[in-house]
This record gives sequence, C-alpha cells and structure tokens, in this order.
Amino acid sequence: MQGIEIEHLSQYYGRRPALRDVSLTVPPGLYGLLGRNGAGKTTLMRTVAALLPCRAGRVRVCGVPADDAHAARVRALIGYLPQDFAAYPSLTVRETLAYLGTLSGMSGAALARRVPAVLRQVNLTEQAGKRVKALSGGMLRRLGVAQALLHDPPVLIVDEPTAGLDPEERVRLRGLLAALAGGGKTVVFSTHIAGDIEAVCRGLAILDGGRLLYAGTAADLKRRTGARTLEQAYLAFVQGGAR
Ligand SMILES: Nc1ncnc2c1ncn2[C@@H]1O[C@H](COP(=O)(O)OP(=O)(O)OP(=O)(O)O)[C@@H](O)[C@H]1O
Ligand SMILES: [Mg+2]
Repeated sequence: MQGIEIEHLSQYYGRRPALRDVSLTVPPGLYGLLGRNGAGKTTLMRTVAALLPCRAGRVRVCGVPADDAHAARVRALIGYLPQDFAAYPSLTVRETLAYLGTLSGMSGAALARRVPAVLRQVNLTEQAGKRVKALSGGMLRRLGVAQALLHDPPVLIVDEPTAGLDPEERVRLRGLLAALAGGGKTVVFSTHIAGDIEAVCRGLAILDGGRLLYAGTAADLKRRTGARTLEQAYLAFVQGGAR
C-alpha cells in the first residue's frame, strides 16, 4: 500500500473548523496542494504527519492509520518540512543534520551514511561546512528538505517550500521535489502559487476555507474552466464561478 488516503477528515481549532469533511487520495509521485492563506494546507499536512490528532475521519499513510496508536510508525514513513523551518545559525550544515538526526533517534553509524547521501540529493555537498547563518534562503530550504530525507522515508511532506525564493531557486527546488518523486516517493507540497504546481505536478488538490474544492489533474481543471493557465483556472475556481 503506497500513498496517502484521507477519508472525511475534519479538524477544529477550538470550535472553529479548519478542515471540513476532506476526502482525498494521493498516489505516489509529485502532488500539489493549492490554496490561499488560511485554506487549511498546513493543518492537512500536520494531520497526515501525525502531528495533529484526527478529530473526525481517517488518514492512512502507506496503509498505516495516522492516529495516536500508530504515530511512531507513521512518522517513520514520513519526512516533513514545516512551513517555518529554522535551524541554529551557528551550526554548520553538516552539524545541523547530525543534530536533528540524533534528536530523532538515528545512530551514529546511520548518520555517517545518510548525511553525505542527503547532502548530495539536495546539492549541498559543497556547503556542508558552511554555517546556517551564511546560507541563502534557497539553501536553507534545501537543508530543510535534507533533514526530512534523513531516514529515507517513502513519503515526503513539504509545506510551502518555494515561499520567498527567487525564480532560479524556485525552479531548482521544484526540480528537486520532482526528482525525489521520480525516484518512487510520494511527495506532497503546498503552495499558493498555481505556477509552481503547473510546472511539475500532474495531480493537485485545491483547498479553500477548509473544504476540498478540487482534486485531479491540472489538465482536467483547465479543460473544465476553459482557462489557458492553471493560475486562471484556479482563480475561476476559488472565486466560485467554475464550481
Ligand atoms: N494553531 C492554531 N490555532 C488556531 N487557529 C489556527 C491554528 N492554526 C491554524 N489556524 C486556523 O485554521 C485555518 C487553517 O489554517 P492553516 O494554517 O492550516 O492554513 P494554510 O492553508 O496553511 O494557510 P497559509 O497559506 O497562511 O500557511 C485558518 O483559519 C487559521 O487561522
Ligand atoms: Mg500554511
């Protein structure tokens, strides 16, 4: 069993709903989660990563329920890059990975093997000895992807990886995620920019106000709305005209 299955998921902060009856199947490959601020993207990703308990409904990751009883197993299946990823400024790139890996229970031998491997994957080998405070925004984001890959999980969840990056770094980051997905992983990333998804994803879901508005391919969404770009199709959708 691969990928992620979400059935009738609802989440609340206090009494306020953040996700309302969301059902979605994410297959292996690169999958985009599109939605404006407050749509519920982070809430959905944190729930799938078993960082937030399901209030109603079910989530399964590679067939394993993302509930309290299976949280450790689900976390072993998932690499997660939080939207607000930060690292200690005075540690080097290599030290940061060793530190985060140790915190998550990896042995010294596993780290000696995995740290160089993930540095190669995200193209930061040359920066391994650089301090975090000297990294560019794009390099820091790639370090975030590297820490999510340390335990070589089959599923990668990346929350707004392209936010604030310049065009060259955006393209590089999208290429990195596409390469990881091409290697057989299920990679879900969120964004509020449709162009990020159109460039690399076949499958996408649109969330708005905690509701799932659309799940399918970018090509189908454009066909349904008669729009030329995913950006136009997305705007038509969230503004209600195309539903
Ligand atoms: N810790 C929290 N406490 C209370 N309300 C929250 C909390 N986190 C999110 N919310 C609310 O839940 C809703 C969904 O938020 P969420 O962060 O999941 O959206 P998002 O799509 O990730 O937004 P953004 O694009 O701004 O990151 C919003 O209305 C938000 O204000
Ligand atoms: Mg968010």
